[in-house]
Amino acid sequence: MDMLLNPLDRRHRLRSDIPVVPGAFPLVGHLPAIVCDLPRLLQRAERTLGSHFWLDFGPAGHLMTCLDPDAFAVLRHKDVSSSLIEGIAPELFAGTLVVQDGGAHRKARDAIKAAFLPKGLSQAGIGDLFAPIILARVQAWRDRGEVTILRETGDLTLKLIFSLMGIPAQDLPGWHRKYRQLLQLIVAPPIDLPGLPLRRGRAARDWIDAQLRQFVRDARAHGARTGLIADMVSAFDRADDALSDDVLIANIRLLLLGGHDTTASTMAWMVIELARQPMLWDALVEEAQRVGAVPTRHADLTRCPVAEALFRETLRVHPATTVLPRRALQELQLGQRRIPAGTPLCIPLLHFSTSALLHEAPDQFRLARWLQRTEPIRPVDMLQFGTGPHVCMGYHLAWLELVQFCIALALTMHETGVRPRLLSGAEKGQSYFPTAHPSMTIRISFS
Ligand code: HEM
Repeated sequence: MDMLLNPLDRRHRLRSDIPVVPGAFPLVGHLPAIVCDLPRLLQRAERTLGSHFWLDFGPAGHLMTCLDPDAFAVLRHKDVSSSLIEGIAPELFAGTLVVQDGGAHRKARDAIKAAFLPKGLSQAGIGDLFAPIILARVQAWRDRGEVTILRETGDLTLKLIFSLMGIPAQDLPGWHRKYRQLLQLIVAPPIDLPGLPLRRGRAARDWIDAQLRQFVRDARAHGARTGLIADMVSAFDRADDALSDDVLIANIRLLLLGGHDTTASTMAWMVIELARQPMLWDALVEEAQRVGAVPTRHADLTRCPVAEALFRETLRVHPATTVLPRRALQELQLGQRRIPAGTPLCIPLLHFSTSALLHEAPDQFRLARWLQRTEPIRPVDMLQFGTGPHVCMGYHLAWLELVQFCIALALTMHETGVRPRLLSGAEKGQSYFPTAHPSMTIRISFS
């Protein structure tokens, strides 16, 4: 941890009477520690400064971070705004619903959300679409015997999200390339010259938007079924006060982004946990054999409690989104402190997900906490998806595809008597921001 903080920044400083964590570097602030070791950074700050402190997110500025459970509830508060996200990644998120508040946000979200609820997913046959793609991929892993897991799950989840959009199989390589270039916008320095990431990322975004615009036109012209896009277009067109196609297109692009890295990271952690805990694998194989086939509908998921528990516990221990930015629009009470209007906030989902206040033995990976529960899932049990008006729209989709993945993996590997095994330590090289994921280099063998 010490190596990740600036030893020359030791001053005790206050902003709005709240301490700033020492150790920030010029320009990048605390980002090295946030990216590489957020859990220990938060623990150290709590131990030395208490539950409220400022972290410096480099180009995104200082965010007041609060570890009091009130901070999670703030996500439901009408006086906090998501507009800060646009300031952090304008090239990617401007015009999308994730940066909007109030009526504008509700209107765009209402037009899309039905397609992502269990009924919409079932009607569009998404489970049937995904099952063969997942099975083919895990069979290829078994045949190869060894894989770099995050690269593989990244590829698989991208294929799933593209197929969800109805992108024809032969066009996938082109989309892959453009999507990778689009992601460069997250880290692009603000220099707009040919060949540099900003120029390339913007060109890729324009290419993707032009393709999506054509999909939307086709869906209207032919009533064509292009995955979920047709459903979203008709919901948009039915909205009382029609929204422009630019809004629809920006939000379809948001779905590509929202549904990729998060799911890929969770899938990779699932395989890692299954590889390092043989009893978990045995329990999953037993369930997969009992179920006999990859489930395709939400109603079938109740028959897969072990896979569901694995999905929930993996996300609890390894939440893919570790922090959420917000801005207080009015003065707020957060724990023991009043926070002035205008304060930029960091809501540390990672802290709550692994907090002893919410979970018994929070550091232990225990399926039993889900398998033995009798009460329904509460918002706090799925806090890894946020809460309030911006709660993840892809929750049901992620649940479906991750349970499908577990069952497909267990069935396929067990067929030839192999199981996942970890070929390197899982602890080193994981990252926590902007999306958390295990080390890029972790290899898994199926033997
Ligand atoms: C394990 C998988 C996933 C995790 C952990 C996750 C996490 C989250 C979180 C924490 C938020 C809240 C953002 C905020 O409040 O600012 C969010 C929002 C969102 N997610 Fe997910 N997500 C996942 C999968 C997906 C999938 C599969 C999709 C769709 C294909 C998706 C689409 C979205 C969208 C569109 C939003 C914005 C909602 C809004 O602002 O109203 N996510 N997600």
